[in-house]
Amino acid sequence: MQKKILFILTSILMIIGLCFNVYAAENIALRIDDPIMQADGAGKEIDEYGTAPVIVEGRTLLPVRAVVEEMGGSVDWNSEERKVTLTKDDDVIVLTIDSKDALYNEQVSELDSTPVIINNRTMLPIRFIAESFGFDVEWNEDTKTVNISKNTQKASDITTEVTTEQATEAGTEEISVPDNNSGSNAIVVYFSRAGENYGVGNVEIGNTAHIANFIIDNTGADSFEIIPEVPYPEAYDETTKIAQKEKNENARPKYKGEADLSSYSTIYLGYPIWYGTMPMIVKTFLENNDLSGKTVIPFSTHAGSGWGSSLNDLKELCPDSDIEEGFSVAGTEAANAEDKVKNWLEQR
Ligand SMILES: Cc1cc2nc3c(=O)[nH]c(=O)nc-3n(C[C@H](O)[C@H](O)[C@H](O)COP(=O)(O)O)c2cc1C
Repeated sequence: MQKKILFILTSILMIIGLCFNVYAAENIALRIDDPIMQADGAGKEIDEYGTAPVIVEGRTLLPVRAVVEEMGGSVDWNSEERKVTLTKDDDVIVLTIDSKDALYNEQVSELDSTPVIINNRTMLPIRFIAESFGFDVEWNEDTKTVNISKNTQKASDITTEVTTEQATEAGTEEISVPDNNSGSNAIVVYFSRAGENYGVGNVEIGNTAHIANFIIDNTGADSFEIIPEVPYPEAYDETTKIAQKEKNENARPKYKGEADLSSYSTIYLGYPIWYGTMPMIVKTFLENNDLSGKTVIPFSTHAGSGWGSSLNDLKELCPDSDIEEGFSVAGTEAANAEDKVKNWLEQR
């Protein structure tokens, strides 16, 4: 009887294990000293111990287990031999703690630094593993972020396709101008992307646009929507690849029209969190417009990472503005968040 129960329990665990491995992220981003990693745009804890990537003697070390499992692989630890076996599809990598020798599909390779254990986690410069498993690795010095992306199709190819095709469409669309006739001293400036969205399927109104509309309705503020000259694709995956490339390159994508903010003293500024901060196009807006002396009230939607580093970025980009406490909510709740927005507006 006990054997039967054990067998059933083992089978259930195996099925659960298989289910978890079915999901494989294509874009993973980890930042130095940040215990939250991004997997296809969603923020999640690296592990329950608060492990974060570190720089040791000039080398960036990442927690191997979290990264490999996000890639859809598995990790096995043999404490007697101090060996870590990483498996993804048909590829097997065996690493030994404190040794530069690695086995890749039974062939010996030399790592450029040894795997080490920090707080019970095996840490390693990830390039060897990622490239063996078919991922590209990029380091962004400005943001101290390692971006790992599946290399079946190069991000640069996709960007070019979408850009050319959609630039033509963009020319026929209306130019956004502020709705500047209410006499209000406040304006809601926001960027939001309709289309396939994280956790809420395909939507016609973006999550942040819902919050923008609630603020407009409840304050009577004017509005200016930051509309990209080249729209982002409807498909979520394609958008993440373009957005990641823009972030890596510290790009400043253009938007349509321009806001005349001279008559406004208060700017509600809304954006979704993209790769741990505001989308680059919002940075374009902030660099094009001088918000010195104005009150800036941020609001944002996200898929779990909260504000990320966007408030710091905002402070850097608007050093002479009075930045007030903002409103942040999960994108999946945005369409139903009018009461929360009202409460926040009443209490501020
Ligand atoms: C390119 C891209 C990157 C994203 N990066 C993050 C992220 O780093 N952290 C997070 O919590 N959510 C991330 N998300 C999820 C969005 O922040 C979330 O779905 C948001 O509500 C979308 O707002 P919108 O509909 O107004 O564009 C990302 C989404 C996209 C499309």
